[in-house]
Formats: sequence, C-alpha cells, structure tokens
Amino acid sequence: VTALRAIVCGPASTAWIASGLLEKASEHLVSPSGRFLLVSSPGSAPAAERIRRSLHGRILLDLSIDDREEAKTLAAVERIAQAALEMGVRRDDAFVAVGGGVVSDIVGFTAAIVLRGIAWSVVPTTTGSMSDAAIGGKTGVDTKAGKNLIGAFHPPRAILIDPTALATLPERDFRAGLVEAFKAAWIADAALAQMAENSVAKVLERKEKELTELLAGSVAVKAAIVNEDLRESDRRRLLNFGHTLGHAFESAGQYQRLKHGEAVAWGIAAALEISARRAGLSAGDAGRIRTVLSALGPFPEPDRDPRVLASYLALDKKATARGVAGVLLEAIGRARIEESLPTEEWLDAARAARLS
Ligand SMILES: NC(=O)c1ccc[n+]([C@@H]2O[C@H](COP(=O)([O-])OP(=O)(O)OC[C@H]3O[C@@H](n4cnc5c(N)ncnc54)[C@H](O)[C@@H]3O)[C@@H](O)[C@H]2O)c1
Ligand SMILES: [Zn+2]
Repeated sequence: VTALRAIVCGPASTAWIASGLLEKASEHLVSPSGRFLLVSSPGSAPAAERIRRSLHGRILLDLSIDDREEAKTLAAVERIAQAALEMGVRRDDAFVAVGGGVVSDIVGFTAAIVLRGIAWSVVPTTTGSMSDAAIGGKTGVDTKAGKNLIGAFHPPRAILIDPTALATLPERDFRAGLVEAFKAAWIADAALAQMAENSVAKVLERKEKELTELLAGSVAVKAAIVNEDLRESDRRRLLNFGHTLGHAFESAGQYQRLKHGEAVAWGIAAALEISARRAGLSAGDAGRIRTVLSALGPFPEPDRDPRVLASYLALDKKATARGVAGVLLEAIGRARIEESLPTEEWLDAARAARLS
C-alpha cells in the first residue's frame, strides 16, 4: 500500500491517490445525501465491486453500461438519466462513475444535466483516464458530426486513483494511456519526466510505487494547468502536445488502427521534429523522449499519406488560412503554443516522425 496523496484539482474537486484506495472509497466519495448512483462497465466490474462493498447499503442505483466509444452518445446519457429519475434521484444525491474515459465522460455529463446538475465522483480504471480524462471537469458525448461536441464543464467532487484497479487492463490500453501521463511530464515537469524515464521498466511491470509516482505527477500537472484556466485558453492548450497530428493520425486510421494514446505518441514524435527546428529543442531531449516512446510501444504504423493527413488537418479546430496551431517543446518540461504552423511543415514532420 502506498501513502495516500491528495491533489487539489479545483475549488471543489480533489484527486486521492493510493493503492488499496478502493477499499476505503466511502471515505472519499462525495454525496451530500450520502446516497450514490453507481455507473460502471463490464471492464471496470472488479473495481465497481470493490466500491460496492465500501458503499454497502448506500447505493440507490447500480448500472453497468456499454463503454465502447460508439456508445458515448446522448442516448446513453438519456438512459442513465431516466433510470436515475425513476429511482427518485434527489438534488443532494451523487453519481459515481467507475471506468475509463468513456464512462466518466458519459456519467459526468449526465450528472451535469440531471436536475440541472448534481454532484459526481469518478474512479478511473485506465491509465489514460487516471492521468487525463478524469481530471479537469470536461464531460460530454460524441455525435455524428464529431467527437466530444456536446458536453459541459462539470468537475467531479472526488477522483479516486488506485493503481491496483489497472491489474485487469489489457496491455495495449495500459501502454497507450501512459503516453498521456508522460506527455504531462514533458510539457511541464522536467523532474517528473526524469524520474518517470528512469522507472519506465517498472512502470510497465505495473509496479505500484513507480506507477503511483507517475500517475500522481501527471495529475498534478494537469490539475495545476486546469486550476489556472478551466475553460481552455492558453495554458490548457499545452495539454494538446502531440494531439494536432495525433488526431489526424487517429482519424486517418478510422479510429480502428491506432488507439488514441498511440496516435498521440506518433503526434509527439512529429512535434519533436518541428520543435527541433523552431523551438530550440535539443537532440538530447528529443532522443530521451523517443526512447521512452519506443519503450511504451511498439505502436502500429500510422497512415502518413499527406493528402489524407492534410484533409484532417484542415478540419482541426485551430486551422486558419495561415496554418494550424500546435504545441512545441523548447526543452523537456517546457512547452509553448505556436499559432500558425504551415500545413506543409506538419506533413513533413509526419513523414519524418520516428519512435526510435
Ligand atoms: N474529459 C476529458 O478531459 C477527456 C480527456 C481525454 C480523453 N477523454 C475521453 O476518454 C475516452 C477514452 O478513455 P480511456 O482512454 O480511459 O479508454 P476507454 O474508456 O475507451 O477504455 C479502454 C478499454 O479498457 C476497458 N477497461 C477500462 N478499465 C478497465 C480495467 N480496469 N480492466 C479491464 N478493462 C478495462 C474498457 O472497457 C475499454 O475497452 C475517449 O472517449 C476520450 O474522448 C476525455
Ligand atoms: Zn489525449
């Protein structure tokens, strides 16, 4: 068991981190009434069972939902909301989302709109949701027009991160999600990056101590950025490091070929090329990042066809006539926004990107 840590993620939002935390969930989950509406998924069932035991007798509703990305829809939100209303949910009750980012995005959004907003907490069960999706208060669902286009800012009151919940996570999801944890270190915390780099082998063995250090560090980075700037303007955009081309790679593979974190790994590799040219990133720092990315991989090759990538870059929310904005790294631990990078440069970087 690792020591309990608390990280303030907002005025009424705290992340708690320790192994064995789920057995003590009732001490940290927040519900003004003391009653909870538990929503989990088949993959997160073992974690949900641990929460259930801790909350015995206080669960008003207990639902398992489909957590494939295709199921992250308004229909899913409506089903949960209807079930909650049928059970007599009150404004002082609270949801608990147990699962990856799909579950927390759906449940957080449901909590934002049921009775015009009730409290919720989240128990992330993937590396990606522990280091990224569960932190920062963005919730929402996908539509035919695109991902995450309907949603709300509704921060969870408590985030319970227990690395032992990762025991059942498939290896590929485990590794892909770690890319986001390292990303946080690379943009804002050189000491964390160094520490995590030294312990990458142990992290990959899912050793509790090393995993906890990395996850806690990445939560602290995201929490600090979000605390400054909840509604996405400048600093929050740094979290998009690797995501401009990452999203294009992900789309070019129809969301089938690459997992999100894998696409971001390639996006980071490409951003290193531009960062070396425009932001003074040293060959040494770029090499250290590639070494970590190749240890997290191997990742499937992305589609690098410039015509295909150009069409997706044009759809980027930050695309203008002069180019597409991106995040560049000046050094490990220090990033900045570049507003208009010509599409040609992105495509060259996509061609040159390598993980080792
Ligand atoms: N709100 C935000 O700020 C934010 C940030 C990043 C990503 N997201 C969203 O998060 C989603 C991705 O989330 P994710 O990366 O956590 O993946 P995910 O929710 O898609 O889960 C990945 C897979 O792991 C399974 N799973 C989850 N926990 C498990 C466990 N402990 N053991 C075994 N299997 C388990 C799931 O069933 C799923 O098949 C996307 O929809 C993305 O848009 C949101
Ligand atoms: Zn991401």
